[in-house]
Amino acid sequence: MSTRPPKASYDLVLLPGDGIGVEVISDARALIEAIAPKLGVTLNLTEIPCGGKYFLDHGRDWPEGSEERCKAADAILLGAVGWNGPDGQPVAMPDGKMAGWNPVIGNRMRLDLYANIRPVRCLPGTKHGISGQFASVWQPDKVDMVIIRENTEGLYSGIGERDAARATDLRVITRRASERVIRTAFELSRQRGRGAPADKKKRVTCIVKHNVLQGCRLFLETFRDVAKDFPDVEQDVAIVDAFSMFVLTQPERFDVCVTTNMFGDIVTDLASVLQGGMGMAVGCNVGDDHAMFEPIHGSAPPLAGKDRANPMAMLLATGEAFAWLGRRYSDERLAKGHAAIEAAVSAIIARGEPLTADLGGSAGRAAVAAAVREETLARL
Ligand SMILES: NC(=O)c1ccc[n+]([C@@H]2O[C@H](COP(=O)([O-])OP(=O)(O)OC[C@H]3O[C@@H](n4cnc5c(N)ncnc54)[C@H](O)[C@@H]3O)[C@@H](O)[C@H]2O)c1
Repeated sequence: MSTRPPKASYDLVLLPGDGIGVEVISDARALIEAIAPKLGVTLNLTEIPCGGKYFLDHGRDWPEGSEERCKAADAILLGAVGWNGPDGQPVAMPDGKMAGWNPVIGNRMRLDLYANIRPVRCLPGTKHGISGQFASVWQPDKVDMVIIRENTEGLYSGIGERDAARATDLRVITRRASERVIRTAFELSRQRGRGAPADKKKRVTCIVKHNVLQGCRLFLETFRDVAKDFPDVEQDVAIVDAFSMFVLTQPERFDVCVTTNMFGDIVTDLASVLQGGMGMAVGCNVGDDHAMFEPIHGSAPPLAGKDRANPMAMLLATGEAFAWLGRRYSDERLAKGHAAIEAAVSAIIARGEPLTADLGGSAGRAAVAAAVREETLARL
């Protein structure tokens, strides 16, 4: 990433979307508005309504001109999209795409946000909820990996067709898109420098199904080629089905993992279990010139309007946006904001309250978001 001098002000676009996306974006806004004056940084926030509910009301999933506003922003924060129509099914647009496609997958493709970088850590004090019981299952010092998902092609390339009897979805894998995301993975392993928790070795694990799929053969071949430029980083290959077991039973083996679009979508939801669930998991959609940060969860319609969503993933995603902008513009103020948000969330998890129900607590979303704000401010 090419770096530039700090800017006088930064323009952030907020895309609330649907359901709990709207709620957690309001928490992100409140956090930014609280800490920006203390950091001495001006952040101009522009909110663009979007998603399935917006489509039902307006016949399109975001207002005209939104593409340009996202393109002009220094960074984008996304809540989550997805709303059910009167028939109880997720709202789809006339072209068959989900309503909310434009702000999420559309932005990833148009802004060439080719790497979806998903850190997976288990903060000390995390209680894992399994069958309604809460216990510390995974050891925090054994979970510290990053899963990088190719974000612009694969099974989500949007190419396919369907009639009453047959449907196809074309999985496009190109050497160009594979190479840049794999290179990102090797560079990240080098930057992190701490390797996998088990043996401290810098390692990139390529998650594929190359025994069956042509696209995975090309992805793996590209991985082998890129790896030649990183002799200090160990190459590792995992078949996606076996990886799905090892990520939960031996998470300490993994440092940085890289995979294709849909495999990455699925294995990162699975890996979120190590973190305490979807309410803790962040996705950084990053390209060479643009970036969009989001919780990996969806709009969770059953939780919407009930003050029950865990806002921490969205607030950690906000921290990641600060970190990315801080690196891009060599702006220490934003790096400081990132560190304070991370430390605030860690302190609350370690203390064990206030937490939402997904982490075994009984607090509401707003109370948790207020605690993160307070703890962040206390660190600035
Ligand atoms: N990037 C996105 O915008 C995105 C991602 C995934 C799903 N979706 C959409 O979201 C809608 C709902 O999908 P879903 O139910 O499969 O996935 P979801 O992520 O919304 O919910 C899955 C489960 O996790 C829980 N959960 C999610 N976020 C939580 C949080 N912050 N705090 C506590 N619990 C949380 C939910 O209650 C639910 O039990 C669908 O329309 C789907 O298309 C959007």
